[in-house]
Amino acid sequence: MTLRIRTFEEYEAVYQESVENPEAFWAAQADTFFWRKKWSKVLEWDFRKPDIKWFLGGKMNITENCLDRHLKTRGDQVAILWEPNDPGEAAKTFTYRELHAEVCRMAHVLKKHGIQKGDRICFYMPMIPELAIGLLACARIGAIHSVVFAGFSAHALADRINDATCKMVICADGNYRGNKSIPVKEVVDIALQNTPSIESVLVAQRTGQEVHWQSGRDFWLHEEMKTASESCEAEEMDSEDMLFILYTSGSTGKPKGVVHSCGGYMVYTAYSFKNVFQYDEGDVYWCTADIGWITGHSYIVYGPLLAGATTVMFEGVPTYPDAGRFWEICEKHQVNQFYTAPTAIRALQAQGDRHVTPHDLSKLKVLGTVGEPINTEAWEWYHRLVGKNKLPIVDTWWQTETGGIMISPLAGITWLKPTYATLPLPGIQPCLVNADGVELTENNVEGLLCIKFPWPSILRTTYGDHERCRLTYFSHFEDMYFTGDGARRDENGLYRIIGRVDDVINVSGHRMGTAEVENAINEHPQVVESAVVGFPHKIKGQGIYAFVICTEAPADDEAFRKEVRQVVTEEIGPIAKPDKIQIVSGLPKTRSGKIMRRILRKIADGTADSLGDVSTLLDPAVVEEIRAGVL
Ligand code: WT7
Repeated sequence: MTLRIRTFEEYEAVYQESVENPEAFWAAQADTFFWRKKWSKVLEWDFRKPDIKWFLGGKMNITENCLDRHLKTRGDQVAILWEPNDPGEAAKTFTYRELHAEVCRMAHVLKKHGIQKGDRICFYMPMIPELAIGLLACARIGAIHSVVFAGFSAHALADRINDATCKMVICADGNYRGNKSIPVKEVVDIALQNTPSIESVLVAQRTGQEVHWQSGRDFWLHEEMKTASESCEAEEMDSEDMLFILYTSGSTGKPKGVVHSCGGYMVYTAYSFKNVFQYDEGDVYWCTADIGWITGHSYIVYGPLLAGATTVMFEGVPTYPDAGRFWEICEKHQVNQFYTAPTAIRALQAQGDRHVTPHDLSKLKVLGTVGEPINTEAWEWYHRLVGKNKLPIVDTWWQTETGGIMISPLAGITWLKPTYATLPLPGIQPCLVNADGVELTENNVEGLLCIKFPWPSILRTTYGDHERCRLTYFSHFEDMYFTGDGARRDENGLYRIIGRVDDVINVSGHRMGTAEVENAINEHPQVVESAVVGFPHKIKGQGIYAFVICTEAPADDEAFRKEVRQVVTEEIGPIAKPDKIQIVSGLPKTRSGKIMRRILRKIADGTADSLGDVSTLLDPAVVEEIRAGVL
């Protein structure tokens, strides 16, 4: 089983060793898994191409490590503990043995529908057990999953299906979230009007609502599962075969499909899970993320199951039926490790302490956060009220592209400092560079966060466009992976993530490209041009501020804003809706026509008094106009 660090001294020694001899270090971790055939070489890499390979020649299947390997030792232990949206409905459990059987059955269903190794399958699903089972079923037969968060629009879904030329969609009839029921299948039906590669749709039954049916294309999953066998040989995969694609936003263009491969992802997610959360045998671990994001992939499904953990999967929202739901679930299932996002903490903090205090949280040992910088007030509230002033908070910094947690405390082992992600995990070599790419070697500095050496779960490519991967991550600074984040390193070498330095905004932990939102806004017939920036938002971390130029002044500003939000909802989804829309007559542009977002950001966050150098602006008067009209 995965090796676990237990003292600070051990961390220091292991870290040192992992930097001095990374190959031996990772080989020792990889050795704790089941391989059909051992690798012949640990690592080959060239960041310039990029070309990164781990555990070359190794043959394995990640599901044999998530499931089969545990059957003898913990077949009857709960693997997935599913908590439904409605607290009145019974929770469901799947032991490792049951999960293994379900995964095998679903794997047969996929095969029956013509799915083969290498085929792409799109998931558009609520947080129900079939989603986790489905991912593992894909991995079992070597199919590649591409999960699209079920809050995205039909349009966004179709784009992602087409980019990966998926052969199948797996969805549900509907989705319960809080007191709403959302028509999932309906969105899929709309998306599928423009997705020629899709041959079939498997539909999990959740809400029982009426759905449109296209016979020959649509199949009920539960019907198909009925006759499927409970054992299914796992496909032998090469370490470097693709495991999944997950789309994420960048500063330009459409979202890219980040590609992760089998072997390295397996080794790294298990290692980081075990060490960051200090998971003990028998613990109940809960990550509140949605499987539509990387956090759910790595730390609801793969990491915990690889480690033989009991992982909680929650269908609902933090505020239903009331703002005590998280704590009620922690009490009910005796949760030991709890992992959530700062935006959820801030939202619950705003609802008052009374939702937390009545609950017995005495089983909790570790608290975690992920997805965005956590502010001091939220950290302290989480620590005091939920952690009773004694539990460690692991502020975990990482990205879709990194596959696993990169910089974070190891709970109870390494130092904590509020708002700091603190120290790199063993095997991770972060550095800060200035704009010229010169490494800042001293402490007490701020710079651009890069990683100097590969780790096993680094992205391998962006699907269908390797050059884009090179340009985005490996071309800014020579021989380094560029994260897109700015960070500070304090006098003790601890890292604090400041936030994105590119045109990416982080709204409630959701990553959004400003260009993507602008393109959506520009679809409105009355919009000539738009510019989007982030602004500080009390709950969401960042809100979306849109400056919009119209063909002619709208007759009714509010009605126009509503329409713009509607267009964005249709193009991307409700998570991308601008919080503020300011109608302007022009945008601050340089003589070469580039929008100066720096100025718009300052206007939007109310610090426009010091605009800095505006001498390159084509029309400085427009700045005054925008400033006067700020919302
Ligand atoms: C971006 C990656 C990784 C899981 C969820 C987000 C920001 C992530 C932290 C943190 C400050 C953080 C960064 C990063 N971020 N974790 N602990 N402190 N910022 O994955 O959607 O790929 O977004 O989220 O800006 O680049 P993602």
